[in-house]
Amino acid sequence: MAFDLDTVRKEFPILAREIDDKPLVYLDSGNTSQKPRQVIQAMSDFLENSYAPINRSSYRLAGEATEAYEGARRAVARLINAPSADEVVFTKNATESTNLIARSWGVPNLGEGDVVVLTHMEHHANIVPWQMLRDELGVEIRWVPLTADGQLDLTDIGRLLDGAKVFSFTAMSNVLGTLPPVAQLCAAAHDAGALAVVDACQYVPHNVTDVQAWDADLVAFSSHKMCGPSGIGMLWGRMDVLDAMSPFLGGGNMIDTVTLDGYTTAPVPAKFEAGTPPIVEAVGLRAAVEFLEDLGMAEIRQHEIDLTRYALDTLDERFGDDITIYGPTDTAVRGGVLSFAFRDLHPHDISQILDERNVCVRAGHHCAKPLMQVLGVQSTTRASFYLYNGTDDVDTLADALDSATDIFGF
Ligand SMILES: Cc1ncc(COP(=O)(O)O)c(C=O)c1O
Repeated sequence: MAFDLDTVRKEFPILAREIDDKPLVYLDSGNTSQKPRQVIQAMSDFLENSYAPINRSSYRLAGEATEAYEGARRAVARLINAPSADEVVFTKNATESTNLIARSWGVPNLGEGDVVVLTHMEHHANIVPWQMLRDELGVEIRWVPLTADGQLDLTDIGRLLDGAKVFSFTAMSNVLGTLPPVAQLCAAAHDAGALAVVDACQYVPHNVTDVQAWDADLVAFSSHKMCGPSGIGMLWGRMDVLDAMSPFLGGGNMIDTVTLDGYTTAPVPAKFEAGTPPIVEAVGLRAAVEFLEDLGMAEIRQHEIDLTRYALDTLDERFGDDITIYGPTDTAVRGGVLSFAFRDLHPHDISQILDERNVCVRAGHHCAKPLMQVLGVQSTTRASFYLYNGTDDVDTLADALDSATDIFGF
């Protein structure tokens, strides 16, 4: 399937939904994405025909289910150019992946005074697990600040990373859309002798991802933001790093053997996949990966560059100084996430008025409260795009903003 917006849209049944005779304008994909028919069908076909436990039973149906689950692992590995599918660990979501990193790598390797470097644009999922280690172990957290246009200010990066054990950063800000130079940051981490951890939750769904070109150590991301189902997340890691990490949760599937005296762990990735995993979700995830691959990640990125450019220009032309869009204006270093302040309207009021036009945006702190502090705001309105959005959605957003202005009497 070559990238054609009308064809793409037809693959998403929910986009045909109308409320009050108005079409759905879904601009909240930074939160979670909609699902194409291919994913919905793969999951229901699997449930109707092939559902069974994985790894535990030797009958043919269970073998089929195990193969489907492992097929998802191979698909994810291919999507991010991982050297081996065994390096892909399935979790519940990206948040569980970052917590797994903090627990299974952090606890054995960090102690009092050890330095973890984060940035001011992190999601809470890449802040709180490290703050928990600060409280428990006395780890020190240092912060990479931002430039005025919402990029990382790397002026002082050498000093910040000096003596650090971990540098954990987002590959794309869920608020500003900023795309930091991931490979450069991984190299800087390694030069300092630190582990390079990447929160790629917003990046993988929208870009060509190559974990080997990044030279990252550990990378967290989620299925539900990339056309797959919720309930399954991913952690990719270099095998030597994963191998040396402690197990995360204990129970079935993650053990090699258990006696009255203790246990030994299964090899990676099973070591980190205790209990019955998200089997049906893995099947849906595989279908999502294949859907994205058929369209081409480079084509998806190009579509979003064009759309983001159109949105930045349109909103600027129509509202000028009445709108403040946070983050870089150069689409080479930003993705399709537009957080903004509009006149002095409260983001929740804006969101409510937009909802009356069936325009779905997110209002709030976007799980990035420290960034809100840095920006000097309580909250923003955020429109976030994906492959099924077009310039017509941006026009509807702009018209709806106009109507918000009328209602609040400007
Ligand atoms: C940058 C970033 N990191 C992590 C997360 C957490 O993802 P999940 O909700 O899948 O755990 C999000 C979700 O919004 C995000 O945007």
